[in-house]
Amino acid sequence: MRVEDRALVHDPLAVLTRLHALQAETVGFGFGRQEVVYAGSPTAVEELLVRRAGDWERVVSVTASRVARTRFSYGMPLLGSPDPQTHRHARRTLQPAFTRERIAETADTIVALAEAAVDGWGEEIDAGATCGALTAAISAGTLFRGTPLDAVATTASLDAALAGFRPFSTLGSTIAAAGRAAGSARAGVELVSHVGAALHDVPVGDGRTAASQVLAAAEGHLDDPGAVAREAIGVFAASSETTSRALTWALGLVAGHPDVAERIRDETVARAPGRSLGGDDAEQLPYTRAVMAETLRLYPPAWVVARRARVATELAGRPVREGTVAAASSWASGRDERWWPDATRFHPERFLTAAPGRPRYAVFPFGGGVRQCIGERLAWLEGVLVLGTVLRRVRLTPSGPLPAAHAGASLEPAGPLLLQVRRRDGVGTVA
Ligand code: HEM
Repeated sequence: MRVEDRALVHDPLAVLTRLHALQAETVGFGFGRQEVVYAGSPTAVEELLVRRAGDWERVVSVTASRVARTRFSYGMPLLGSPDPQTHRHARRTLQPAFTRERIAETADTIVALAEAAVDGWGEEIDAGATCGALTAAISAGTLFRGTPLDAVATTASLDAALAGFRPFSTLGSTIAAAGRAAGSARAGVELVSHVGAALHDVPVGDGRTAASQVLAAAEGHLDDPGAVAREAIGVFAASSETTSRALTWALGLVAGHPDVAERIRDETVARAPGRSLGGDDAEQLPYTRAVMAETLRLYPPAWVVARRARVATELAGRPVREGTVAAASSWASGRDERWWPDATRFHPERFLTAAPGRPRYAVFPFGGGVRQCIGERLAWLEGVLVLGTVLRRVRLTPSGPLPAAHAGASLEPAGPLLLQVRRRDGVGTVA
């Protein structure tokens, strides 16, 4: 199949949607000189991420350019490593910071930060900027608690360092992006030095925080503070940017559906009348959780997952040469009418009842297999508690139409997502 390189760089969502519409198990095409195969069915996605995962290594970008690969090399040298053993060791070492108990302990911090944020909102917010600041503060206050990590400075340098990153990039598009973001190299250096300093006094491997477990994972590399800092930056970015996007889209969608907002509000007030939400509540708010699930279906922050074949293999019956890149897209799969009738409609109720005929990988916002998101439990807790806390305190109305989605490093609104804010009178009683 012929896919234009330019189209893939500039509007990958349209291309992925077009490939998916072919309803084929897989579709092969060329991107520059790179052979690419699109995993077009839930079976092919499962084979790629789970059943034949050993044949594939993780890549962050489907790039025809080595410059693009080296320019954006801040993230996770160990956990993000293509080498299975390095990855397995880092993942096992980080795991103690992500158990059910550890994540449950973060609930009160999440709710306190969300309440403080909402109380500071004016009459209109830019949901993207607001959620970005909140989730960065939450990551700093939970995964990196006990360190002097400055969430605002870290996020600002991270945004500058990654400006222009596109998962599908050619040499030309990378050079153009580098030209537009002249300060990005300096921002990268500042980022590594700030995060490195913040980790200075963290106890190695006490099992309590992600920061401590990052140091434990990097034990053989502690003489290379830059590498340790890059690992920590990767975990920080993976946690705050994705969750920020998910919440931004959730607030935008809910603002445009006042009935949904009221139902979330009623559910949270009935569950926790006269008090703030807490960790035990998150799993008892099925409707609020369904709203997050429906948001992630329509707007998955990780809109593409990519792998490179480490050996000659096959994907859903298609022979694949070593070095071929495979791409799977939760964005395109989540809009497939075969599994999601009336797919573009925002309808959280579809997640309230079981759908026996729907395959497991009909949507995969957190990936799957050995590289499935390690922070998924935290993401759900954060999503449900922040959404519930916000909608108990304020009513939101869209200032304009919901912006289109832009496929950057994560799925972001193409323009500002502005919302009008009106305070509710009481937060603790059922109206
Ligand atoms: C709504 C929020 C989130 C979404 C949509 C999301 C999505 C994903 C996806 C799709 C992957 C797999 C990528 C691949 O297979 O190539 C992943 C991996 C990862 N995520 Fe998340 N994530 C979210 C929140 C978080 C949080 C809160 C953390 C906290 C630290 C986190 C940390 C990570 C890490 C470290 C990995 C790499 C895991 C590995 O390679 O073993 N994510 N995430």
